[in-house]
Amino acid sequence: AEPLRIALAGLGTVGIGVIRLLEANREVVERRAGRAIQIVAVNARDRAKDRGVDLTPYAWVDDMQAMAERADVDVVVELVGGADGPALSLARASLDAGKGLVTANKAMVAHHGMELAELAAIKGAPFAFEAAVAGGIPVVKGLREGTAANELTRIYGILNGTCNYILSEMERTGADFGTMLAAAQDKGYAEADPSFDIEGVDAAHKLAILAAIGFGTRIDFDAVRTTGITEVRATDIAQADALGYVVRLVGVATLAKRDDGTAQLLQRVQPCLVPFRHPLAAVTGPTNAVVAEGDFAGRLLFQGAGAGDRPTASAVVADLIDIARGQAGAPFSVPVAQLESCAAGDPGERVGR
Ligand code: NDP
Ligand code: HSE
Repeated sequence: AEPLRIALAGLGTVGIGVIRLLEANREVVERRAGRAIQIVAVNARDRAKDRGVDLTPYAWVDDMQAMAERADVDVVVELVGGADGPALSLARASLDAGKGLVTANKAMVAHHGMELAELAAIKGAPFAFEAAVAGGIPVVKGLREGTAANELTRIYGILNGTCNYILSEMERTGADFGTMLAAAQDKGYAEADPSFDIEGVDAAHKLAILAAIGFGTRIDFDAVRTTGITEVRATDIAQADALGYVVRLVGVATLAKRDDGTAQLLQRVQPCLVPFRHPLAAVTGPTNAVVAEGDFAGRLLFQGAGAGDRPTASAVVADLIDIARGQAGAPFSVPVAQLESCAAGDPGERVGR
């Protein structure tokens, strides 16, 4: 069979992870995909940078947008980042040209996912973003397909590896916030702008995407009420510990049904006191965990590495395998309705009741 030919935009933590995975697992990927997955073109800002991998087999494209125009490219993999700017231009141009689009960019999907999904549907092009939520955990597919027969009532979890690493390492070592943020950046967990991590914005991006998939509604990022972890001090963590709790940044999306049959979506991200006995309390390091509650499936827990080069590359390449097999699903549940979002002041959700 003809190889699936891809162009890779972004050669940072995740982009280089994808190259390494495709090299290391070439045979297993080809077997599962039914054909080879071949990188043909790459792009980043700095051509001279040593990235620790051999890039000579691939065409270097100076103008990222030109990737979308290349006749020898079937799928563009966008690993640049940023809700707008070059990432969004590339995404639009790729789908517009009928190319498939795979991205790990939750900021872009949270802000423009519906538009991109509509463009993909018009063009008949696959659009996949498993890596955008919870790194290596197949939670996008898990919710979209695995719980498709359920009415979900609540989706919640730990959605930011950087914050979870910081909080659980502060807990373990007693170190301060700044020291642990620097360590998370050093390990490649943090976003290019780490304020998105520590202010809860990254978790809010992911929550909005999961809520849309799980509840079959349009993404409504602006409705997520968000508080980050910048005010959490080592003493808060010690006091929580003395009372039988750990501190975790938790995102919660709840479907509140009214008596008249209408429903309202409540979404919030905030530091929570999680009792020691709750499964989320045992989630440490850059791990993510997502709980989905379905009327027939009951409580499901998805847990695994939420950030880092290898787990995220695993999710990116899983999307490419689906596309190579012609099995990439519609990105969102179909049909997508519009649920009313919560108004400020609605009661919050506690984890651990
Ligand atoms: P990095 O900052 O490590 O890499 C970004 C890459 O994009 C770099 O190669 C950079 O080029 C390139 N780039 C940035 N701006 C431009 C531009 N204007 N023109 C051309 N190239 C540009 O990011 P990550 O790999 O960590 O993240 C990539 C995406 O994956 C983001 O959307 C992120 O949110 C997402 N993600 C990241 C995870 C992680 O654990 N790191 C996990 C899940 C998702 P150069 O190297 O030359 O500077
Ligand atoms: N910065 C993100 C995190 C990367 O720490 O979770 C994974 O999305």
